[in-house]
Amino acid sequence: MKITVRAWRQAGPELPGEMTEYTVDGITPDMSFLEMLDVLNESLIVKGEEPIAFDHDCREGICGMCGVVINGRAHGPEQTTACQLHMRSFSDGDVIDVEPWRAKAFPVIKDLVVDRSAFDRIIQSGGYISVPTGSAPDAHATPVPKAAADSAFENATCIGCGACVAACPNGSAMLFTAAKVTHLNLLPQGQPERRSRVLNMVSAMDAEDFGGCTNTGECVSSCPKGIPLDSIATLNREYLSALRSQ
Ligand code: SF4
Ligand code: FES
Repeated sequence: MKITVRAWRQAGPELPGEMTEYTVDGITPDMSFLEMLDVLNESLIVKGEEPIAFDHDCREGICGMCGVVINGRAHGPEQTTACQLHMRSFSDGDVIDVEPWRAKAFPVIKDLVVDRSAFDRIIQSGGYISVPTGSAPDAHATPVPKAAADSAFENATCIGCGACVAACPNGSAMLFTAAKVTHLNLLPQGQPERRSRVLNMVSAMDAEDFGGCTNTGECVSSCPKGIPLDSIATLNREYLSALRSQ
């Protein structure tokens, strides 16, 4: 396949950026989107040009690092991460636009790399349980109702990629925060800090440059892990309940 890539180039946070066009040849349908960027970067290095900076780590849909907007959609045409998106989703001759996450809370560092440390600060404010770890307990030592275990697990699959924020017209982080709060607040181990967790995490979220949630649902349709909109309802219930108990 021979494709045209129009990539956002921005040398630094305070510098202006622009879309720059490149032709990439020799792409196979089995390559991942990141491997296509590798091929493009190798050709730029050979020509003595600066390669395109993009974030990545695991390349298997786990770390959440590889977020980019592809043809106007967070992570591109499939509901998966950019590292798990394959070039078979495109056709020979396609023109593909690649941009960084567009959200005030995720400022561009360079090219396609953004600063997602706002998510870290939300986690630091309450996305944990405080228990002595010791040795691993027996699996059945703390019974958990099946429905709670299933929902906690579903929410625990959030990889912190930020696609929900990038897709949201308000730049809201509600789905991410909801996944983290719901995961821990449903489990017995999460009960001692249940109220302080939701109050602190919502407060930390509000202190960043995220927008408010207006239930558009764009977050859910772009989430590579299928975190459900119900989690936002759970977050709102947990928040109101914690406020009332103060
Ligand atoms: S909720 Fe989904 S889209 Fe948002 S950070 Fe978690 S995995 Fe990514
Ligand atoms: S590189 Fe880890 S999720 Fe894509």
